[in-house]
Amino acid sequence: MAQEPRDAALEVIGPEEPEEDPARLLACRAVTVTYAGLRAVSSVTFSVRRGEVVGLIGPNGAGKTTLVNAMSGFAPISEGSITLGGAEISHLPPERRAHRGLARTFQHGRLFMDLSARENIELGALAVGCSAREARRRTDALLEETGLLSLAARPPAELSHGDQQRVSVARAVVAGPAFLLLDEPAAGLPAESLAELRALVEQTRVGRDAGVVVIDHNVEFVLDLSDRVVVLDHGQLLAEGTPSYVRHHEEVLAAYFGSVPSTRSASAAPPGDGDAASGTAKAP
Ligand SMILES: Nc1ncnc2c1ncn2[C@@H]1O[C@H](COP(=O)(O)OP(=O)(O)OP(=O)(O)O)[C@@H](O)[C@H]1O
Ligand SMILES: [Mg+2]
Repeated sequence: MAQEPRDAALEVIGPEEPEEDPARLLACRAVTVTYAGLRAVSSVTFSVRRGEVVGLIGPNGAGKTTLVNAMSGFAPISEGSITLGGAEISHLPPERRAHRGLARTFQHGRLFMDLSARENIELGALAVGCSAREARRRTDALLEETGLLSLAARPPAELSHGDQQRVSVARAVVAGPAFLLLDEPAAGLPAESLAELRALVEQTRVGRDAGVVVIDHNVEFVLDLSDRVVVLDHGQLLAEGTPSYVRHHEEVLAAYFGSVPSTRSASAAPPGDGDAASGTAKAP
């Protein structure tokens, strides 16, 4: 394939590591999404491997949801490419991407309130072509695994916010995705629900060998959960690296706090977590 001219952001991020197997990657290359002249996402390059959790963080309006919308087919890209397992998918509608193994949740729930939790989850399997019997089998297994079985007959309105979030994630997981994109699954959750959500993400990553992208404003939750973290600001990739690298990255702290705080005891930047601090940053 002919080489495109590389822009500054790409130069800094560098090429994919040579041993990377495209069959195991969901990759965005120089992806731009424009809304009426606003570059909501501007030439962003990053990828997630199967079996890996990538955190996607950034201040309000940074472009996180827009990027996930672009990856899952809910926002058209104006430049760049998105590949899943090595195949270009950026021209495909959301349902075709879902059939190829891409599942997502939405920032604002989108559960069907007149259906039970079980029926909501079953829909996730039916949407990717499972028979009613297979959808029921998968849903039963997932309800059992997640401890949601006792709540299965209830409509979402009767569930706690944490359980609703888990039903949303289960509805995506039941499709058996190779890649799972979670938009603020931890929003408003108490600590005990965070542990359950984390377990569900882990189960999906390890048990199903899925690549998971997690967006959340609970930065501590994201950093704890993630193998790698990608930081967006004003639609651009600000930094990418291990949780420890991002945790101590001055531009990341400045994006969150407006300036680099003199003490780093704030929730976005607690002391080191023991992982190797390595990553890349956008050129100044
Ligand atoms: N459908 C749309 N039409 C026009 N502008 C949009 C649309 N969706 C998002 N935007 C704009 O694109 C930018 C990025 O928004 P986006 O929702 O992706 O940010 P975000 O990082 O998910 O923010 P938050 O943390 O608040 O959810 C914002 O300036 C937003 O106003
Ligand atoms: Mg958002």
